[in-house]
Amino acid sequence: VMTAARSSDKPMRLVPIDDQNRAAVLALQVRRDQIQLVAPNSKSLRQASQDPSLVPFAFLEGDLVVGFAMYQRRRDGSAYIWRVMIGDAYQGQGLGRRLMELLMEELRGEGFREFMISHRPQNRVAAILFESFGFFEEDFEADGEVIRRLHLPPESGPAGLGE
Ligand SMILES: CC(C)(COP(=O)(O)OP(=O)(O)OC[C@H]1O[C@@H](n2cnc3c(N)ncnc32)[C@H](O)[C@@H]1OP(=O)(O)O)[C@@H](O)C(=O)NCCC(=O)NCCS
Repeated sequence: VMTAARSSDKPMRLVPIDDQNRAAVLALQVRRDQIQLVAPNSKSLRQASQDPSLVPFAFLEGDLVVGFAMYQRRRDGSAYIWRVMIGDAYQGQGLGRRLMELLMEELRGEGFREFMISHRPQNRVAAILFESFGFFEEDFEADGEVIRRLHLPPESGPAGLGE
């Protein structure tokens, strides 16, 4: 089934923030009506520079920076996805879904099995997108943010396959 057809077939990647992509990440903005839904990337990078448990990524299509994500490595061994955003000019083309796919692949590769993600209750696009990745269980923070959780069973190694 074809969804959200893209005119481009450039490779998409999540990469660490570096001197090549930092300015472009800082220049990314969401739509005016989305400003209350996510912190500006300048705040996220400032937080990451002060807290080594925070891991920020630039999301690239080819060489173009189109999005940003940041998660926190928590002491209990879980990964808390704090930020996911696609620049306003690049939204609605399937990139947000692709960003989530790459981020979850990265985190599973790091060995994480417990995940949390949060969003404002009125953010229906985020709610539906995150639910489609299995983030179902809901909690509510004091400030009204919805917190969703995902638990993946332990991965069976290659030896477990076919048994
Ligand atoms: C959430 C966000 C990252 C999605 O990025 P995107 O590139 O526009 O998303 P996609 O094009 O991949 O679409 C993802 C899904 O949402 C749906 N969707 C996207 N925009 C939509 C809209 N305006 N109205 C309804 N549905 C919409 C799509 O249909 C798609 O579902 P599908 O894959 O089942 O067809 C983007 O809207 C964003 O940056 N929002 C502001 C920041 C934010 O809210 N972040 C999340 C909380 S931290």
